[in-house]
Amino acid sequence: MALSSDKSAADRARELRETLNRLNYHYYILDDPLEPDSEYDRLFRELQSLEAQYPDLLTPDSPTQRVGSPPAKEFAVSVHRQPMLSLPNAFNATDLQAFDRRVKRLLQMEEEAELPYVCELKFDGLAVNLIYDKGVLVEGATRGDGQRGENITANIKTVRDIPLALGATSHPIPDLIEVRGEVFLTYEEFKRINQEREKTGQPLFANPRNASAGSLRQLDPSVSASRRLRFFAYGIGQTTHMPATSQSELLKVFQSWRLPVNPYTVECPSISEALKYCQEWEKRKERLEYHIDGTVIKVASLDLQERLGAVSRNPRWAMAYKFAPEEVVTRVRNIAVHVGRTGALTPVAELDPVQVGGVTVSRATLHNEDEVRRKDVRVGDTVIVRRAGEVIPEVVQVVTEKRPAGAREFSMPSQCPVCGSDVVREEGEAVARCVGIACPAQTLEKIIHFASTNALDMDGFGPSVIGKLLAAGLIHDAADLFALSEEELLSLDGVKEKTAANLMDSVSAARTPPLDRLIFALGIRHVGEYVARVLAREFGTLSALAHADEQRLAVVDQVGPVIAHQVAEFFSDKHNGEFLSKLEKLGVRPVWTEAPAADERSALSGLSVVFTGTLETMTRDEAEGLARDAGAQPKSSVSKSTSLVVAGEGAGSKLEKAHELGIRVVTEQEFVQMIRPPQSSV
Ligand code: IVH
Repeated sequence: MALSSDKSAADRARELRETLNRLNYHYYILDDPLEPDSEYDRLFRELQSLEAQYPDLLTPDSPTQRVGSPPAKEFAVSVHRQPMLSLPNAFNATDLQAFDRRVKRLLQMEEEAELPYVCELKFDGLAVNLIYDKGVLVEGATRGDGQRGENITANIKTVRDIPLALGATSHPIPDLIEVRGEVFLTYEEFKRINQEREKTGQPLFANPRNASAGSLRQLDPSVSASRRLRFFAYGIGQTTHMPATSQSELLKVFQSWRLPVNPYTVECPSISEALKYCQEWEKRKERLEYHIDGTVIKVASLDLQERLGAVSRNPRWAMAYKFAPEEVVTRVRNIAVHVGRTGALTPVAELDPVQVGGVTVSRATLHNEDEVRRKDVRVGDTVIVRRAGEVIPEVVQVVTEKRPAGAREFSMPSQCPVCGSDVVREEGEAVARCVGIACPAQTLEKIIHFASTNALDMDGFGPSVIGKLLAAGLIHDAADLFALSEEELLSLDGVKEKTAANLMDSVSAARTPPLDRLIFALGIRHVGEYVARVLAREFGTLSALAHADEQRLAVVDQVGPVIAHQVAEFFSDKHNGEFLSKLEKLGVRPVWTEAPAADERSALSGLSVVFTGTLETMTRDEAEGLARDAGAQPKSSVSKSTSLVVAGEGAGSKLEKAHELGIRVVTEQEFVQMIRPPQSSV
């Protein structure tokens, strides 16, 4: 018996229809989404379940009854010969297993029988339909509402990946075939486009998908042509003959016709293997040079696909496995100001905790005052928070429509929230600083930095222990760590004997730090790990460095006048001098044993090196650091003067250019071999 709706359900359904239609319009027509996909999906599911519960609420114009929005007016309409379907979503193993059971039930198969699936990546771009007439590309269209899209043939023809004519092979080309696939942009090209837009004052694209859509749905094809759009084919619509019997065979046939297909497609014998593929790619997705928002599981046999058919907008033979969303909506509870070790004041958004990219996020840095202004973030605002891979969470944008009345703009306090000293922001600087030299927040952060992994690596001395030591008055600066006794450590809340003994071990180990780490630990402005190593290599001892004047420092290779000034100023400060003598009195003796200067050390010295693609064993930054250490100069683009290109997985245009220019290309493993110093004969 169908239930009859009450008034509140009817109101809610109307509200949801209106909201979803508005979101659709912004997403499809304006390429300017108001909400992340996860929020859209949530509202869509809420409407679907309301309509399922109260069928009398279902209206013909409900967004659940069609795929997207009608095409924009400017393009001619293209009617798909076969509808372009969308995909139902699975979010976990249970959803996938239910899908497998349903498929088997429909096919009247035993539940235990093995049913092969083809697993593909779910590219996050724009779906297109390509019509090839006797092997010649005659039309390209967007998906539109699934029945009718926009005729964007002129733009499609600018996509270099898309063949204007299919290549003849042993697989006969049907007289007429609709090829379906995704047009997308790599992260690198997305970045380049946005940089260009920034220069010319145009609004930036929020993500690669919007940039792809914005580039393809251009009335002027020369704009599409100026962007390196990419394409992968993954399916067919109408065809005069079936070129294959399974999805994997179809992709092979596509490839033989010179249609690009993704290399990471695999055929799995069962749903449990398919699930492994999904989980594996959720972890691996960061290594790709383009964005995917999930994987797609398809019944492998095309014959079975046909037997299963579709219900309204969804095929019954395929499922999208969606990854945990990287962008979610939450609310700003407060904008706090964090005082760092250099006295820099950083505004931090305190958020209603949310799951983003698989972790709980409750704070996000807002960088500085200008950034808060630019994004116009206010307390009480609803914001979109993003966290991709290992990247720290950030506020992408405010959903201004949801701003509560009277939400106040942020302003930097004029007094330090911790010590009350004045806050100054020097001209031309983005950063406001607390001028208090005895500011406890700065002291705390300085000591945390001093003991951190990349500095003196004092295991166990994290923010909590250091905070307690300061509060108990047992330390006043980082040098005091070397005067701590086991009894003092035991007096701290939560520190038992084992912990105290470990902390004492960390202290003794830190008495003989490598010189470069100690220099880095001092927290001199502009002296990061790399510059610290340059200085250690040049001066060899702390006292030689401390006695070098600004002129002497400025002539060191890779140390410019700004760094020279900061270093000289640091060592001429009386308090810093006292701090260094205190370290010495407490038995801290830095050591420096590094081999001779870089240029005698490796096969890389003097070369200019470009990294491209995704590296397996290190980040791009690490690789560049290693290259520098080996005497090479990392560069970001390939030119005639490039000596070497290190190509990782998915290397693209830079690799092509290197080949064009005849530049030597090596793999990551070969690069690692090259940075090793030659084996000495000792
Ligand atoms: S198959 C009937 N395969 O996902 C099957 N779609 O939500 C429909 N997409 O509009 C498409 N990667 O834009 C398929 N490997 C893939 C895909 C894929 C991305 C997109 C496509 C489609 C949307 C469905």
